Amino acid sequence: MSFNLKGRSFLTLKDYTPQEIKYLLDLSAELKKAKYIGTEAKNLQGKSIALIFEKPSTRTRCAFVVACSDQGAHAEYLGKGDIQLGKKESVEDTAKVLGRMFDGIEFRGFKHSTVEILAQHSGVPVWNGLTDLYHPTQVLADFLTIKERKGYLKGISFAYVGDGRNNVANSLMIGAAKMGIDFRIVSPKELFPTEELVAYCRSEAAVSGASVTVTDDVKLGVSGCDVLYTDVWVSMGEEEFFDERIRLLKDYQVNMDMIRATGKEECMFLHCLPAFHDTKTTVGLEIFEKYGLKEMEVSDEVFRSKHSAVFDEAENRVHTIKAIMVATL
Ligand code: CP
Ligand code: NVA
Repeated sequence: MSFNLKGRSFLTLKDYTPQEIKYLLDLSAELKKAKYIGTEAKNLQGKSIALIFEKPSTRTRCAFVVACSDQGAHAEYLGKGDIQLGKKESVEDTAKVLGRMFDGIEFRGFKHSTVEILAQHSGVPVWNGLTDLYHPTQVLADFLTIKERKGYLKGISFAYVGDGRNNVANSLMIGAAKMGIDFRIVSPKELFPTEELVAYCRSEAAVSGASVTVTDDVKLGVSGCDVLYTDVWVSMGEEEFFDERIRLLKDYQVNMDMIRATGKEECMFLHCLPAFHDTKTTVGLEIFEKYGLKEMEVSDEVFRSKHSAVFDEAENRVHTIKAIMVATL
């Protein structure tokens, strides 16, 4: 290893070089293998980790807890309503207190500035478990899953279809630009990423050999793609926008027609999850009753098809989050 990530926070992939991202992916694969064959070392023995969640989570929370347990660390869950964070105590003061007690802090919540303040004042590594702007730990799991199934990452053609300006889309675009991916955002113009972020990603792409395309043309956007990716049309905290998003995104559903439009038989489907691919959820059922839609961002057929690697991807959250903690603690 020619560089050292000890003591570093992980707030956005903007802060990490392509070499550092590659190192984290390689370490994730090593830790996954060690867990499978039973040779995992407890690198985090005696460490205590705070997990702050302002928004709900299945994968991210469980991945941190299991990664801590595998590595010998203690994880303490601090949910919404458990701590004062910004309510009766400033984020800065909370950061200073948690930094005296814990060796690392995970934060999932609304404002990206909250995770920045935690990192600025805690004196320990802080990891972003999703904010309104970014979801960087997700992208490591996505890239590991592509490497496992396709054997390579650089040069892969990848389309993110749907809400092109959400946290997952933003982080995928940054990661793809750094890792030499032919990356496309396919979404209606109203949901394009900010020009500022696209410009940043294009400057990274110029160095890595990646390309960054932003288009509202589905056929053009998905043509030749090895990977199709989507996420929910309405992210946590934006529930008032269901009407508008359904109107804007109904023609951007990932279904078998879209898979065929890639022209790639082995096209792979990814989704960070949770997904609306049927009516087996209360929200999914409400949407069906109100709009007559049985599935939203992805059809049930694609979700359950051989193209789909979504549960490998979900499992890989553990191995990649573990790698981030092992590398930075
Ligand atoms: N993909 C993801 O972050 O899932 P959770 O919201 O369940 O953590
Ligand atoms: N964009 C989604 C991701 C969930 C993992 C959200 O923020 O709700």
